[in-house]
Amino acid sequence: MSFTTKICCIGAGYVGGPTCAVIASKCADIKVTIVDINQARIDAWNSKDIPIYEPGLEEIVFAQRGKNLFFSTDVDAAILEADLIFVSVNTPTKKTGMGAGFAADLAYIEAATRRIALVAKSHKIVIEKSTVPCRTAESMRKILDANSRADVNFDILSNPEFLAEGTAIKDLQNPDRVLIGSMQTEAGLKAQQALASVYARWVPKERIVTTRLWSSELTKLASNALLAQRISSINALSAICEATGADVDEVSYACGLDSRIGPKFLKASVGFGGSCFQKDILNLVYLSQSLHLPEVADYWNQVVLMNEYQKRRFAESVVRTLFNTITNKNICILGFAFKKDTGDTRESAAIAMVKYFLKENANIRIYDPKVPASQMLYDLTVEDKVDVEQYNKRVTVCDSAYTAADGVDAVIVLTEWDEFKTLDYKRIYGKMNKPAFIFDGRLILPTAELKKIGFQTITIGKGD
Ligand code: NAD
Ligand code: UGA
Repeated sequence: MSFTTKICCIGAGYVGGPTCAVIASKCADIKVTIVDINQARIDAWNSKDIPIYEPGLEEIVFAQRGKNLFFSTDVDAAILEADLIFVSVNTPTKKTGMGAGFAADLAYIEAATRRIALVAKSHKIVIEKSTVPCRTAESMRKILDANSRADVNFDILSNPEFLAEGTAIKDLQNPDRVLIGSMQTEAGLKAQQALASVYARWVPKERIVTTRLWSSELTKLASNALLAQRISSINALSAICEATGADVDEVSYACGLDSRIGPKFLKASVGFGGSCFQKDILNLVYLSQSLHLPEVADYWNQVVLMNEYQKRRFAESVVRTLFNTITNKNICILGFAFKKDTGDTRESAAIAMVKYFLKENANIRIYDPKVPASQMLYDLTVEDKVDVEQYNKRVTVCDSAYTAADGVDAVIVLTEWDEFKTLDYKRIYGKMNKPAFIFDGRLILPTAELKKIGFQTITIGKGD
């Protein structure tokens, strides 16, 4: 089949994979090739066990793969034939050097941009899909411009992604908005229209918003900062609720009924996780500092500090409740992913919790429906290490909530998986040491029922 347009996406991760799979499913006449330098990841995309769990994704990949959707490690070939190139590589927080702990590491963006500059033999529209600090497109443009030739030139667009994991396919198929930033030049505006016409196949025109480049880049950081700020705000209020006897769910519901506030993103929790909220806010903090705006930097940094406080507060309340010691006690952790409906564990609050409990010498039994044991081992022993010996001695990964609850002193819910709402808690109670404590870090459990069974219940943001 001959295609009207060819798209290359550099980076076959949580964004590149789902985003371009949906483009392929909506545009049969467009050839979409997703490339990555990670051979294992590409092999997985080409297998029956795709590397990302996301409701609805597998169906789309299986339907389009080999027709107009391809996964490859041949980055150069895909660049060569593409009209539009999405750069969807990772932009983690820098671990060392200037800006360490705050600034985004743009090495992957730069490497991908240099590859495009080196390989391209015709005009390309290069689209910044990764989340980046404001004015990154300018650096990319400089690299690309320096490599322009008579017949090879580049336009650069910013098209940040707003999907949330667990609902990525729904978000991509029916987005609140698609944002496309461009240079305000004739060529820039033409490129913007070319990309807009791809999305216009399924997104209503009024939801395709076009702006300047820098506004688009900043909007992405701002959106994540505002969302995370709401969670830190309700979590700050949850501490007041616990101290006063107010109920954070009631407070959140009543506040959310005000149409100016709205109900979403006001669910108190053990703290937000995920690969982006913390990273993007720290990025914004760094940007503010670089712009000599220390008050602005402090303001946003407080959102992250509040999140750290919430995790610490919850972990400490577990130890306090279990009579001030959890040494050699058995603790069941329900949920390890950073939210439900994903197997992603990046920055999951569960990692911080388990590490905290291991330092107190507790034995941990973990169950998560989608996170494999190998990922838990990696999260707990490779990054910011727990000793492997300690892990082997203290951590048991279980294949069901019931096995995880065998002989434990406390059950702690850290991810809001639906199945945790309807477990047979009488059965769980029967397996536990008494008194049987249950901690709800997600406000999903039927507390009144649990109390009747005999559990001691402790819920975030509930004073009773
Ligand atoms: P990811 O780590 O899952 O995927 C990035 C992929 O890029 C990796 O597979 C890596 O091997 C590949 N890569 C890196 N350098 C490369 C190169 N030079 N050539 C080819 N491949 C290369 O990351 P992600 O979660 O998909 O995030 C990507 C970007 O999107 C980040 O900037 C992130 O902030 C942003 N974002 C993420 C989400 C999300 O839900 N995960 C949502 C919106 C935006
Ligand atoms: C978030 C944003 O919602 C997306 O718009 C954005 O594209 C993405 O970050 C990104 O840039 O990576 P994501 O992190 O996948 O998406 O998931 P969210 O639903 O935002 O949840 C983030 C964390 O906040 C989770 O740990 C979740 O449990 C927690 N959360 C969320 C709460 O504690 N309370 C809430 O009310 C909502």
